[in-house]
Amino acid sequence: MKNQTIIITGGAGFIGSHLVRLMVNKYPDYKIVNLDALTYAGNLENLRDIENKPNYVFERGDITDADFVSSIFKKYNPDGIIHLAAESHVDRSISNPMSFIQTNIVGTVTLLNAAKHHWADNFDGKLFYNVSTDEVYGTLGDTGLFTETTSYDPRSPYSASKASTDHLVRAYFHTYDMPIVISNCSNNYGPNQFPEKLIPLFINNIKHNKPLPIYGDGKYTRDWLWVEDHAVAIDLIYHKGKNGETYNIGGHNEWTNLDLIGLLIKEVDKQLGRPEGKSKELITYVKDRAGHDRRYAIDASKVQNDLGWVPSLQMEEGMALTVKWYLDNMDWMDSITSGTYQKYYENQYEKR
Ligand code: NAD
Ligand code: DAU
Repeated sequence: MKNQTIIITGGAGFIGSHLVRLMVNKYPDYKIVNLDALTYAGNLENLRDIENKPNYVFERGDITDADFVSSIFKKYNPDGIIHLAAESHVDRSISNPMSFIQTNIVGTVTLLNAAKHHWADNFDGKLFYNVSTDEVYGTLGDTGLFTETTSYDPRSPYSASKASTDHLVRAYFHTYDMPIVISNCSNNYGPNQFPEKLIPLFINNIKHNKPLPIYGDGKYTRDWLWVEDHAVAIDLIYHKGKNGETYNIGGHNEWTNLDLIGLLIKEVDKQLGRPEGKSKELITYVKDRAGHDRRYAIDASKVQNDLGWVPSLQMEEGMALTVKWYLDNMDWMDSITSGTYQKYYENQYEKR
């Protein structure tokens, strides 16, 4: 593949920042354009270590702004788009669905239209990559795995909006022959995740001796993947994935929330020098999430067999690294958890 100019949307967020770092460091001859609106979830601190590299550029703007998106296409003439920008938190989608429709659906169509227009229907060497979620498949019972052919059955405004993006991207493939790939990944964990999501929220609360709010009975199951492994998979799929294909990505790493929190508490207590299990006393059962999906689990054999991707880290190792990162970077956490985050937290948890 020739040297690429790639627009990565959402590159200042959790997964996006790991992907931007990987690509900037791995491909010195590419140009990596990070297009991000810097919403509450975007943070340029995540990219301090690479911000001065000559092959990296940051453009602040909104993917729903057609004029802005068009100007970026004109300015950089990209070979590919890796699209991650999104509203990504299920709980926020329950209290404010419209922002998910706007960013996730309207934003994706705006990017697709800009790509179609700018590439002038000559798609040689071009690629639109939609980074999506396993939540589009709905929920599983005690057994079974999501495969690439599992029917879509999204059940939250977030997952419905992400399912729409997949449908729209496929529609541009079938209708206009635009080259596309899609990947659907399970729950990511690791450094730089916004502390509204389970793992960083709980690390922060344990550190400050605040209650650990477990939704419902805590027996919900997620399939956890180290975020850098997701970035490696995206890089591989961008370069080697087949046009029009979908790839499921997951860690073969299922945990119930209660077991995961047990592991997390053990690790945080150890690293804080507290007696083992001390912070279990912070566990508080709260009202369940509306429409809470019971279990997600991914069959990642296609990306493994076709492209040779396998996750690199076991959960115990990944959790130790994750906890260490947050405890070593409490200033990152503190700057995020002041101000508007505080209001979100009160609305989300005080009445539960
Ligand atoms: P995140 O919330 O941490 O980051 C989202 C980023 O998008 C932020 O930097 C934000 O500023 C930016 N953004 C939001 N609205 C924008 C807009 N209108 N214009 C431009 N930029 C905007 O999200 P994440 O957890 O890193 O997820 C990234 C992508 O991966 C999302 O599409 C999500 O659906 C998908 N995904 C996430 C997970 C996960 O476990 N976190 C798993 C599978 C798939
Ligand atoms: O599966 C992929 C998805 O994983 C991504 O598409 C989403 O962007 C990402 O946010 C994540 O969604 P989840 O809803 O699974 O993640 P979250 O961290 O919000 O919750 C994980 C589990 O923990 C879920 O069963 C709800 C539960 N939970 C969460 C919070 C925030 C609690 O019990 N208490 C909490 O306070």
